[in-house]
Amino acid sequence: MAILPVLKMGTLSLSKRSLEVTEFSCAKLYDLILDLKDVMKKEGGVGIAAPQIGVNQRVVIFGFESSVRYPTEKPVPFTILINPVITPLTEEKVEDWEGCLSVPGLRGKVPRYQKIHYKGVNEEGEAIERIADNFHARMVQHECDHLDGILYPERMNNMRDFGFEAVMWERLYGTPYKS
Ligand code: NI
Repeated sequence: MAILPVLKMGTLSLSKRSLEVTEFSCAKLYDLILDLKDVMKKEGGVGIAAPQIGVNQRVVIFGFESSVRYPTEKPVPFTILINPVITPLTEEKVEDWEGCLSVPGLRGKVPRYQKIHYKGVNEEGEAIERIADNFHARMVQHECDHLDGILYPERMNNMRDFGFEAVMWERLYGTPYKS
């Protein structure tokens, strides 16, 4: 099966609210998850949401052992999360750098809740419930925003904290940028 392209910012469907999944343990959902995994692997992402490959359903996948795109972050278990619900556990938001496969080549500083509770189901409809903080919490908030049609630049406080990763990489990570 061909690997699908990632839709880029400006595509209208990325700004739409995605619909709840109602059928589980079925070929259509398994195929969608395989497509998401293939695209995430090919692009080297740490997470991806179904609308990014043109499917406006409430499905995200995320997780990594180590990431070239986020070299200083600790591993997050690979997770398939469907129909997610996030509850913030802090009032405080913290700012840190994010990128997005739909906003290629750029990084921006985004405020997110430092700690969250999230729940949802997996592809079999089985419940998932976790508490997450720091980058894990940030990833979940970023991916779930895609399901509400929100891209990270819309969350940013200051457009001065937005730039090309090829320019900013050394400043962010202290290593030379490799494209
Ligand atoms: Ni994204």
